[in-house]
Amino acid sequence: MPRRSNVIATTLGVVLAACWLLVPLAVRTSGGEARPTASAGAKPSPTPAIAKTKADANPQQQPAPRPEPADNSYCYVCHANYEHEKLTKAHQPVGVGCEKCHGMSVKHSGDEDGLTPPDKMYAKSAVDPFCMTCHEKSKLVKRDDHKDYFRDLQEGETCSDCHAEKHHLAVRTRIWDKKTGKLVKDDGVRMMLKDSPATEGAAAKSKHGSAGEQSKGK
Ligand code: HEC
Ligand code: HEC
Ligand code: HEC
Ligand code: HEC
Repeated sequence: MPRRSNVIATTLGVVLAACWLLVPLAVRTSGGEARPTASAGAKPSPTPAIAKTKADANPQQQPAPRPEPADNSYCYVCHANYEHEKLTKAHQPVGVGCEKCHGMSVKHSGDEDGLTPPDKMYAKSAVDPFCMTCHEKSKLVKRDDHKDYFRDLQEGETCSDCHAEKHHLAVRTRIWDKKTGKLVKDDGVRMMLKDSPATEGAAAKSKHGSAGEQSKGK
């Protein structure tokens, strides 16, 4: 879990900052470039004594360090086109990756036939409440766009209409029930080859499966 170990490394870095004089090397290696720049003592200072005092004096009062950017590479293997999508880009730098919203989805990611759903999916009606677990409505309504939106909200309208227009798959080959995770429709094509799902050959060889084998109601 790279993210967790980064957090630990960062925390360690702050603690070690107190012992700057003793272990300057350890601090540099554990913090690296990803160290938060928010706190006053974060930049390696030519006068270690100052860094030491600040980190020591009131660690609680320092602004919360910026979170590490999320690592979405696991998902890009198959969902490469999400890398430059707006909702992803709004969140990846602040540590909210695919996994934060869709779960670790280990089985989904490892299923070369693509029949296992991700851990978390969102029905239309679930989108807004989910977004608002992190974005308080009281803050959102300060924007006129949002005020109007909440006032005139129609059924089926969601935050994603404006903030995630391209966060949708143009073509669906598998459909799961978003609430139960049950596979309700699939085209029978098995695209995900063991060796290299994302790179060469997946599409070209995708017709190898026996069509309809797993699909229900065809
Ligand atoms: C091995 C390839 C593969 C990997 C890796 C992968 N996915 Fe998927 N994912 C798929 C396929 C295939 C679909 C179905 C696409 C379709 O309908 O054509 C899908 C669909 C989805 C959906 C749509 C679910 C819905 O609402 O219908 C989500 C969300 C998703 N993936 C999230 C993730 C996340 C998050 C990761 C990384 C943790 C990930 N995927 C990694 C292959 C993969
Ligand atoms: C796990 C918490 C979390 C969830 C869930 C979440 N966000 Fe965010 N979002 C953040 C954080 C943190 C930021 C960066 C700080 C900020 O601007 O509030 C952010 C930033 C944003 C931004 C501003 C990006 C920018 O350019 O400044 C938008 C727009 C946004 N989120 C929309 C959404 C929408 C839409 C959803 C639901 C699909 C959502 N968020 C769900 C945590 C979350
Ligand atoms: C009618 C379009 C529209 C809808 C619907 C909408 N927004 Fe926005 N939102 C905007 C615009 C425009 C901005 C300013 C430009 C930007 O950051 O994209 C914005 C900005 C934001 C920001 C960042 C700046 C800020 O003022 O906080 C967040 C976070 C955000 N929206 C979250 C949400 C969430 C969560 C929902 C659903 C409850 C939502 N928005 C629904 C249009 C919309
Ligand atoms: C801030 C939370 C958030 C993040 C981060 C996020 N998603 Fe999503 N994702 C959602 C929500 C909410 C929906 C449902 C949107 C809707 O139906 O309007 C969704 C829908 C999807 C879908 C299904 C779209 C469809 O056609 O039904 C896929 C695929 C997907 N996400 C993949 C990803 C991948 C891959 C990443 C990382 C690169 C990612 N998501 C990051 C919240 C998020």
